Formats: sequence, C-alpha cells, structure tokens
Amino acid sequence: MSTQITIIRPDDFHLHLRDGEMLSAVLPYSARIYGRALVMPNLIPPVTTAEQAENYRRRIIDARPEGSHFEPLMTCYLTDSTSPEALKAAYAVQAFHAVKLFPAGATTNSASGVTNIRKVYPVLEAMQEIGLPLSVHGEVVDPEVDIFDLEAVFIERILKPVRKTFPELKIVFEHLTSKEGVDYVYDQDENMVATITPHHLLLTRNDLFKGGMNPYMYCLPVAKTFKDREAVRKAAISGDERFFLGTDSAPHPAANKEKAGAAAGIFNAPTSLGYVTQVFDELSALDKLEGFTSIYGARFYGLSPNGSTVTLVKRDEPVEMDWQIETGGDVVKIFKPDTPLFWDLVD
Ligand code: DOR
Ligand code: ZN
Repeated sequence: MSTQITIIRPDDFHLHLRDGEMLSAVLPYSARIYGRALVMPNLIPPVTTAEQAENYRRRIIDARPEGSHFEPLMTCYLTDSTSPEALKAAYAVQAFHAVKLFPAGATTNSASGVTNIRKVYPVLEAMQEIGLPLSVHGEVVDPEVDIFDLEAVFIERILKPVRKTFPELKIVFEHLTSKEGVDYVYDQDENMVATITPHHLLLTRNDLFKGGMNPYMYCLPVAKTFKDREAVRKAAISGDERFFLGTDSAPHPAANKEKAGAAAGIFNAPTSLGYVTQVFDELSALDKLEGFTSIYGARFYGLSPNGSTVTLVKRDEPVEMDWQIETGGDVVKIFKPDTPLFWDLVD
C-alpha cells in the first residue's frame, strides 16, 4: 500500500483567480501546488482583449508569493462581438492560450457571453485555422431544460454542430460532470478533450442536500448522480490523454455563499491535489495520477511538463487545517466534502 507519492508538478487547466484582494488571498494556494494554471477570464469587466489579458497577467505575477514561479496562462472571454482578426493578432503574440465560451447567462459573470453560437462561427473558423483551443462551459441556457440535463443537451445543440462544421477545432469540454459527456468525449478524436474537477470526482447531487441545503457543494455544472460520478471517475483514472485536471477552483466570500441565491462555485485550491490523489488511491489508480495531473493537459496545450516535482503523503489521521481563508473582511471557505482528507502535500 502506497503512503507516499512523488509526481511531476501538476498544472491546473481551469482556475478562477479573481482580482484585487481576493486574488492576493487565493493565489498562494494554487501557486504552492501548481506550476501553471489556465486562468479564467470571467472578471467584471471580462478579459476580452490582449491588453486586458496582459495587464491581468501582470497583476497575477505581482500577487505571487515571494520566490514563486507559478505561471498564469491567459484566456480570452468570447463575446458575440469578438473579432477574428484581433484574436489572430493576439495569438501571434501569445496573449492567449485558449478562448473561453460562456453561454450568456450560464454561470457567474457570464452576462457578456455568447447569445447564439452561430454569431461566433467566424471566430471559431479563425481559431481552427491557427490552432487556438476553445474552452467551453458546456451547459445550455434554457429554462425549459432540467438542470441535470444541461450538459447532455449542450452536446446535442451546440457541440455536435460545432464539431461538424469545425472538425479540426481544438475543444476543451470543461468540468465534465455527466456520463453523456464522458461517452461523447470517448467517441471523438484528439481534438476534443475534457477537464475534470476534484469536486466532481467526489460529489453527487445528494451532497447538495445532505443535512440541509449546502451552498458549499454548489457549483455549475451541478454535481450529478452516482452513475455520472462513476463515469467521470473512470475517465479520470483511465490513462486516456483526453481527460486531465482542471480544478475550477472558484472562490466566493461567505456572504455570497450563505444567502438565498447563493453564488455557484467551490474554492478547492488548497485541498484539490490531496483529494484528487485520495480518489485515485481509493480506486487503486495512483499509477495514473501523474498523467492526469501533470502530463496530458500540458501536452494538449503544447507545453512541456513542469521541471519540478511534488510529494504527497497519506496521513493516519485526517489532515487538519482552518478550512477557511480571510479576505476583504470576510472569509472564503475551503472545499470540505463529507470524506475526510488523508493525503497531504509535503513538498
Ligand atoms: O460554479 C462555478 N463557478 N461555475 C462556473 O462556471 C463559474 C464559477 C465562478 O466563476 O464562480
Ligand atoms: Zn470555471
């Protein structure tokens, strides 16, 4: 039985870092673990230009703890009016590593997102040509669709037509939560990959209601059934290069989580790698951990794996910590599912 594991330093290919005080408060937790992160652009206002991305990148670099080499990889927020030419110019100077599609109204700060996928077809055409990946929040916005089916319906209504029209476009199906999503990715070629979050490896929709309604288990896409979680877990430990880690760590102040209309998003950065390791351990798949956390994503984005390593140990007693951090006169609570955490980052 393994009680210690050393792997190439992981990357986080889906991360919300926010800005200002919140950025300073949360960044050290990601920077301690991850070599690089694909930084989501859903700020207010959203990051839509190369100049905004570069300014945001500098703010992140400035907020890094002393001695940190953490590297933010920037993304562009896709809107109905994104210009293909501007995007090509931005790509030429490596301003963006991906373009993020938020269907308008799908999630936090998505109001400027895409209202109709056809409006951005010229942009997708340009991205296909230059090889710039499209990162998608894969849920439709339709009040008539059951919330647990939003991902499956997104495949039918959006992904299938887009894949048919732009077969060479690189697409990342972010935070995969459903069996339908997993099956779909398996059916596609190497241009279609997916990220998987720590929380979707652990939670089912039961966790949202266990012991009363629990906003700290609420994110979008929402956790689904045991069958869905099983499919997501199997994909993560499969060793198939198309599935890799993106934590979707998404901090919100307690005041915005503990209210009617609680914000969607789970701040998992501090416990993310420990919990992922724990799930792989429980599924007797520790030999597949490094590929999932540290190799496949980098390869997809055309990057070399990080040059350093991290070491985790399995404790006999649950890991203890504060389970919250302070910022802006409030706290942000750290992802703490029902399962105690035993895997601890030591180096
Ligand atoms: O739960 C979520 N939170 N899902 C998203 O897609 C966005 C994120 C956020 O920014 O808070
Ligand atoms: Zn996200």
